[in-house]
Amino acid sequence: MNVIEVKNVKKYYGDVRGVENLSFEVEEGEIYGFLGPNGAGKTTTVKILVKIIKDYSGDVKVFGKNLREWGKEYYQKIGVSFEFPAVYSKLTALENLKFFASFYKKHLDPVDVLKMVGLDKEADQLVSGFSKGMKKKLDLARAFLPDPEILFLDEPLEGLDPESARKIKDLLLEMRENGKTIFLTTHNMYVADELCDRVGFIVEGAIRLVDNPKELKVKMGKRVVKVEYIANGDVDIKEFPLEGLGRNEEFLNIIRNYKIRRINTEEPTLEEVFLKVTGRRLV
Ligand SMILES: Nc1ncnc2c1ncn2[C@@H]1O[C@H](COP(=O)(O)OP(=O)(O)OP(=O)(O)O)[C@@H](O)[C@H]1O
Ligand SMILES: [Mg+2]
Repeated sequence: MNVIEVKNVKKYYGDVRGVENLSFEVEEGEIYGFLGPNGAGKTTTVKILVKIIKDYSGDVKVFGKNLREWGKEYYQKIGVSFEFPAVYSKLTALENLKFFASFYKKHLDPVDVLKMVGLDKEADQLVSGFSKGMKKKLDLARAFLPDPEILFLDEPLEGLDPESARKIKDLLLEMRENGKTIFLTTHNMYVADELCDRVGFIVEGAIRLVDNPKELKVKMGKRVVKVEYIANGDVDIKEFPLEGLGRNEEFLNIIRNYKIRRINTEEPTLEEVFLKVTGRRLV
C-alpha cells in the first residue's frame, strides 16, 4: 500500500525551479530515499510533504487523503527533521523535548527518546553549548517524539560522526522493522545504499529513476569477473565476461595453474550508476 503518492508536483520560487513534474510513491513500511546533488529539489519536496510549502501545483496524497485536506492531526502522524536543526538554544535538551511534547496528544517519553539518539548524558545541558552533531541528534529526537507513522528526514546523518551515524542508522532500520515508513533525503550514496529499500534519483527537480540500490548496481554492473593472479612473480589482472565463464578456457587455465590473489565481480558504486543515469555527479 502506498502511504505517499505524489503526482505531477511543481513548485517554483519566482523564476527558480524547486521541483517540476515530480511524481513518486512511497510504500508503507519502506525506507525511501531521495538521492540527488545540491539544489536538486530534495528539501523542497520535504517542505511540500510536511505542508510548509503550500503553493505548489499537482496532487499529493498521504495516508490516502489529499494533503490539502489534512489538518493539525497530520502532525501527530508524522515526524520531521530538516537539514538545519530547529531547537531552542536557551533550553536544555530535555526541556526542548518536553516543550515539543506538549504539542502532542500522545508521545514517547522524552527521556527515552534522548537515550535512543545517544543524548541521555547531555539531557540537562543547555543547547547553546551543543556541537553541530549534538543539535542534529536533538532535532532527530524531536522528530521521533510523537512516535509517528511516517518520518520525513532531510539529510538525517549530515554532520554526525561515524559512530553516531551508525547508531542513528540502526535506529532507523529498527523503526522500519517496527512498521514505520521513512522518507529521507541525502546526497551521500553510502547512506542511500545502506538504508534505503528504494532510492529515487532526483536531478533538476524531477526523478529520473527509482529502484532498489542493490539491484541497480547489479543491473548497471559490467557483468565481468576480475581475476588477480601471480604469473612469473608479477601480479597480473584479467577481466572475463560472466557469461560462459565455466567454459572460458583462458579463465579456467588461470585458476588451474596460477596462484590467485583475488577474484571478484566488478560492481559499480551507486555514484557511478547515478552518473550513468543522470549525467550528473552527486556532489
Ligand atoms: N526559499 C527559496 N527561495 C528561492 N529559491 C529557493 C528557495 N528554496 C530553494 N530554492 C531553490 O530551489 C532549488 C531546489 O532547492 P532545494 O533546497 O530543494 O535543493 P536540495 O536538493 O535540498 O539541495 P541541498 O542538497 O543543497 O540541500 C534550488 O535551485 C534552490 O536554489
Ligand atoms: Mg536540501
